[in-house]
Amino acid sequence: MFKYRIDDELELKLLEPADAEALYRLIHANRSYLRKWMAWVDATKSPQDTRSFIESARIRWAKGDGMTAGILFHGELCGTIDHHALCLLNRRTSIGYWLAESHQGLGIMTRACRAMVSHAFKGLGLYRVEIRAGVNNLKSRSVPERLGFSFEGVARGGQRLYDRYIDLAVYGMLADEWDSSPAGAK
Ligand SMILES: CC(C)(COP(=O)(O)OP(=O)(O)OC[C@H]1O[C@@H](n2cnc3c(N)ncnc32)[C@H](O)[C@@H]1OP(=O)(O)O)[C@@H](O)C(=O)NCCC(=O)NCCS
Repeated sequence: MFKYRIDDELELKLLEPADAEALYRLIHANRSYLRKWMAWVDATKSPQDTRSFIESARIRWAKGDGMTAGILFHGELCGTIDHHALCLLNRRTSIGYWLAESHQGLGIMTRACRAMVSHAFKGLGLYRVEIRAGVNNLKSRSVPERLGFSFEGVARGGQRLYDRYIDLAVYGMLADEWDSSPAGAK
């Protein structure tokens, strides 16, 4: 079991099949809130779906193709964060995340994201980390903004959300910027 302690309150945990039930319960309890920005929610209909998701995420991790971690707040699963679209040729990755509605406003995602950015640069030796968020998803955009990412522009129609396409704000951080940024120095 891979676990990484961020601080007294927070840990990241590589999700395993035994987490499928808890992950499903969390998604189910947050369905209407999550589906506003995440298109996969409706396809998550049972713990078998979260188990399949965890198993495929673990296969990707074993191949060195990203990592999906559960976020534990005082030991309780409250969301996930991942490295995806990992490209070793260009040494870059993207970060995606979600949090239970009840756990917003505590700085959990900013702290988890800071740990994942540091891992990308220091642990994996990557050069670029990207975060994309719906242009109107202000809470999500605030996460890279708090960490000092640069706003690089808008990927028009970058995400399919049900019957429409939404524009995504693109944020980037480079390894040498991170080393000298307040968030990277913490
Ligand atoms: C996007 C999402 C993770 C943001 O959650 P969040 O709680 O706003 O973000 P954080 O956990 O970093 O918390 C930041 C808030 O905690 C406060 N905070 C408290 N302690 C803090 C700390 N130590 N560090 C940073 N912020 C702290 C901040 O002031 C901020 O509050 P504000 O929103 O009133 O300004 C959440 O809204 C979510 O999961 N939404 C649905 C799914 C989604 O949109 N995912 C992203 C798709 S791109």
